[in-house]
Amino acid sequence: MKVVSDIAQLQHHLASFDKEQIALVPTMGCLHEGHVSLIQKAKRLADIVVVSIYVNPLQFGANEDLDNYPKPLEQDLSVCEAEGVDFVFTPEQLYPESGIQVGLHVNDLSQTLCGVSRPHHFDGVVTVVNILFNIVRPHLAIFGEKDFQQLTIIQRMVSDLHMGIEVIGAETIRETDGLAKSSRNRYLNDDERTQAAEIYQSMLLMQNQAKQTSDMQQVIQAGETYLAQHGITTDYLSINDETTLQTLSVWDKQQPARIFIAAQIGKARLIDNMPLSSTNEEK
Ligand code: PAF
Repeated sequence: MKVVSDIAQLQHHLASFDKEQIALVPTMGCLHEGHVSLIQKAKRLADIVVVSIYVNPLQFGANEDLDNYPKPLEQDLSVCEAEGVDFVFTPEQLYPESGIQVGLHVNDLSQTLCGVSRPHHFDGVVTVVNILFNIVRPHLAIFGEKDFQQLTIIQRMVSDLHMGIEVIGAETIRETDGLAKSSRNRYLNDDERTQAAEIYQSMLLMQNQAKQTSDMQQVIQAGETYLAQHGITTDYLSINDETTLQTLSVWDKQQPARIFIAAQIGKARLIDNMPLSSTNEEK
């Protein structure tokens, strides 16, 4: 495994592969089993796997956790080594010192869910992913379904901009009590950690409710009530179309739809999602 922080050096190494399929797994480090599953999927689908580790300042808001974002690089490198990653790309900076002048912008897909309380977040994400794609020139790239809005937006970026890269989603990896694995779970104390598992339970409850009604407001109300009983106030709890991410007030049971939740628990802002129909759970 080669650990490379220099862009030209990485490109020099990658230029020697002309027949091999290259997969990119973009990350911000602090790798956990969720990332491991992305890497394993990349290994199954491609010949060469590149993992990038870069905490992208452009996708953090002024009061978010950029300065405290965990950076356990040695641990991350051991994870990559154990998983047989070929290249770990660890750039110190991906933007010009004088600041970036030209970036990408997301329209309607970022005006909902996380985009409402994090107004520039997805512009920052697509800009950095575009830069990473331009540097690595992968055939395919893997992103977790836990960040479903991000996955949808990146798939749309690749299609709108004719980038010719296959963007593949990988299912959410959960703790035994259902809490989605996330780098931010480490901010939770023991009580908050127990409370956080209720997010998963609330989604199972809503899946069940959705079998009995097409009125999504009723389903959401059931979820909100359950979470409130467990002391959790949501930033949002919404049921949205999987492709357009538009909010659904009525669900016809055919249309692929998902439950989306964001909640602040202690210092951690947790997000999660699940298909509304349990038959197509976690594709
Ligand atoms: O999901 C993440 O870790 C980040 O948003 C990504 C895709 C690596 C871009 O910085």
